Amino acid sequence: MTGSLRKSGIEVLGDIPWGTHFCQFYETPQDLLYTEAAFFKAGLQHNEYCLWILSETNKELTVEEAASTLRKLLPDLDDYLAADKLEIVSREEWFLKEGIYDLKAIAERFSEKLKQALLRGFDGMRVNGGGAWLLDHFEGELHKLEKKIDQFIVGQPLIILCNFPLPHILGNDMFDVMHNHQFGIARRYGKWEVFETPELLQAKASLKKMNEDLEQLNNKLEQRVAERTQQLDEAVQYLKIEITDHKKAEELLTESYQQIRALTEHLQNIREEEQIRIARELHDEIGQQLTVLKLNADWLREEIDSPDKTIQKKFKDHMAMVDTAIQSVRKISTELRPSALDDMGLAAAMDWHLNEFEKRTNIQSYFLKSEKQPELSAKVQTAFFRIFQEALTNVARHARASEVKVTLTQKNSHLHLSIHDNGAGFDPQKAKEKRTLGLLGMKERAAMIGANYQVQSKSGEGTTVSVLLPIHE
Ligand SMILES: Nc1ncnc2c1ncn2[C@@H]1O[C@H](COP(=O)(O)OP(=O)(O)OP(=O)(O)O)[C@@H](O)[C@H]1O
Ligand SMILES: [Mg+2]
Repeated sequence: MTGSLRKSGIEVLGDIPWGTHFCQFYETPQDLLYTEAAFFKAGLQHNEYCLWILSETNKELTVEEAASTLRKLLPDLDDYLAADKLEIVSREEWFLKEGIYDLKAIAERFSEKLKQALLRGFDGMRVNGGGAWLLDHFEGELHKLEKKIDQFIVGQPLIILCNFPLPHILGNDMFDVMHNHQFGIARRYGKWEVFETPELLQAKASLKKMNEDLEQLNNKLEQRVAERTQQLDEAVQYLKIEITDHKKAEELLTESYQQIRALTEHLQNIREEEQIRIARELHDEIGQQLTVLKLNADWLREEIDSPDKTIQKKFKDHMAMVDTAIQSVRKISTELRPSALDDMGLAAAMDWHLNEFEKRTNIQSYFLKSEKQPELSAKVQTAFFRIFQEALTNVARHARASEVKVTLTQKNSHLHLSIHDNGAGFDPQKAKEKRTLGLLGMKERAAMIGANYQVQSKSGEGTTVSVLLPIHE
């Protein structure tokens, strides 16, 4: 509040801040009254409490006389007086209560008056009074009074204007008066002049310099903001391009991944068909031929029927060799593609394979399967069988397990395959770094038939491979 500007009412001054303590020099009583009327009018119109202390040296006015003189310039005066917005007090009442001049009491009177004004809802208070009379009656007191006012007024919603008649105030007194006020104005024969003290001039100069510095700083700041904004714009632009490139690269990557997947599927189908063909050829062609060889050899042995022990032994060895060859052909062709898979379905083929696995590895194997198995396409059967095969191969190669449990069950329209071993286990995250193909192949095969695939394993806690396929019956 104290920082806001107020109307001074005096043309040469315009607006002044709260806390202004200034003086005016006047030549004639008309000059004085003109200023006082303008000064109070501005205060009264802007919600300020006005205090007029009658204390001029040249002519002692009574309160009534002062009011009637002011009334000529301020027609609403009586309304203001009636509403107690303007108060006119005599010098005796204000400065010499009970005939005593007491600076402390005077200061308290100012303070109390301001407090009351604020309590009554005024924005602040403006005061006008004469000071020159003190020079005649109390030597040195004018200086003390002005100094006290100067200290008191700081930060208060208060404006004080002190009057000094020009013919009365001369030489040193004039300097003292100027020194004790922030600035002075003079009204001489109807004309205005403004006197500024060196402190005020200096303050104004500093203010001007500060304003200039501030403007410069502002300009610099604006320039910096503009530069930063441009940099930011450039960065955003760059980021936009980066994001677009990144998106394009991602799309390309997804596209190539899909192509690789399709190619893998295609290759696996070809491989599967090729294995079926080779298995069949081995079984039908070589197997047939070996059987013919065996029959021929039998016939020859009977025809020759030699008692020669060496010939008999040769024939026996030959027959054993042919039997072994027949078994090898069967084994190889079954491993390439167990005919049970095509003939008897997935569960039977797995059963057969698990038996072979147990015989070969001595790992205790258990197979748990649902009584009724769903009808599955050749593609799904092959994928399940190959995953199961690879999982068992891994158990044999890496797990050092003593038992393996396989389940093939149907639950809530899902077919669930799991291969669990009680072996050493491993860290699937680290296994990925090895760039091997077994686990990856299982994952791809599951993805190709739309199944969910998972490997759960922990060092020392065995491994479980599971595949979950939604089925619609
Ligand atoms: N059942 C398991 N028990 C213990 N470790 C396993 C098991 N299965 C896989 N691992 C570990 O995970 C690694 C990756 O398996 P993955 O089948 O991909 O590769 P691989 O069997 O070493 O080689 P290949 O590509 O011929 O299959 C294995 O090298 C092994 O360390
Ligand atoms: Mg493997």
